[in-house]
Amino acid sequence: MMLSLRRKYFYKAIGYFAATEFMTPRRFKNVIAAWQRNGLDLSGAEYHKKHVKIEAIHAKNWLKNVVVPVIKKKTDSSFDITRGVIYRLNTSARYLDMLMSKFMHKQSC
Ligand SMILES: [Fe+2]
Repeated sequence: MMLSLRRKYFYKAIGYFAATEFMTPRRFKNVIAAWQRNGLDLSGAEYHKKHVKIEAIHAKNWLKNVVVPVIKKKTDSSFDITRGVIYRLNTSARYLDMLMSKFMHKQSC
């Protein structure tokens, strides 16, 4: 998120946010599945239920209205946009790996 604070990271931020929008629907579907698996009241998951569709629309529009026009205008921006995507995917992977490690450690105790 800090990428949006400096103009020099503008293109990386575009990629970062694109990846975020594309990942969110699946992640929220998994949250809802876990919600149900744990027998929680689904009324508490309204935000996630709504945003499965909303974020899919954001992702499509982000690609159509931001990523594609920016790359058309400045072709070499695709390198930094891609780096931003990789930053987001790596951040998410590291976070989820850390959670998995913690959960696996707790199960073995
Ligand atoms: Fe969004």
